[in-house]
Amino acid sequence: MEVVILPDQSAIAAVAADAIEALIRRKPAAVLGLATGSSPLGVYDELVKRCQSGGLSFADVVGFALDEYVGLPVGHRQSYREVIRREFTDRINIDPAKVQGPDGAAGDIPAACAAFEEALRAAGGVDLQLLGVGTDGHIGFNEPGSSLASRTRIKSLVDQTRRDNSRFFDSLDDVPHHVVTQGLGTIMDARHIVLIATGAQKARAVHDFVEGPVAAICAASVLQLHPHATVLLDEAAASGLKLADYYRHTYANKPAWQGI
Ligand code: F6R
Repeated sequence: MEVVILPDQSAIAAVAADAIEALIRRKPAAVLGLATGSSPLGVYDELVKRCQSGGLSFADVVGFALDEYVGLPVGHRQSYREVIRREFTDRINIDPAKVQGPDGAAGDIPAACAAFEEALRAAGGVDLQLLGVGTDGHIGFNEPGSSLASRTRIKSLVDQTRRDNSRFFDSLDDVPHHVVTQGLGTIMDARHIVLIATGAQKARAVHDFVEGPVAAICAASVLQLHPHATVLLDEAAASGLKLADYYRHTYANKPAWQGI
């Protein structure tokens, strides 16, 4: 796991966007794994800028969302399908037919999750997966206790996550209790994982998953087993890390050709 501590969100966005741009230049039909929440928004803005200036094309890119609420009507403003469309895919030249996510409005949720897994396989898997992390260490919506080998399925949100996400809704009561999410095993299949965490409210989760034991109580800790996981942090999110100076030194002295 590579830990990179950067001064602010715009530096994080630039580093993540550079990795995505390099991938698309190498492989124009790259498969991107798209997260929602606040963490990736700066990266999306940066990619939109690069696309709109004519330098970067998403014409052949394929996108898979990480997760979705269950029970929100199709087209609901806070459904993750809508958020990804509004924040990212409507602003770039990607083919909307090439973007899909787990279907939280399906009549048969297990069948929809199996179909989503099949679509991921048929696309050849995710080349680069963007992630945020919850204050309880969740990635996707794999809450504490999730199987480290899990695949796309329905999950119940813990109260803390519902409270954290209530800022996007009119009231806490409006936040769904259920979600469909890529499993930890699904996420681990991505060839490169780039997780972004900013702010002091993430410091404890970051400490736990980067430097604590690999354990289902902190789902993101499974990333310690991934051969190519990059964690991009601001100073506040990194403030609980024991080896922060070592991570800073390593990144500062990294050969430029290496990228993340
Ligand atoms: C979003 C997702 C979640 C968020 C996490 C952090 O698709 O899967 O794991 O990444 O809840 O959310 P923010 O970035 O809003 O702090």
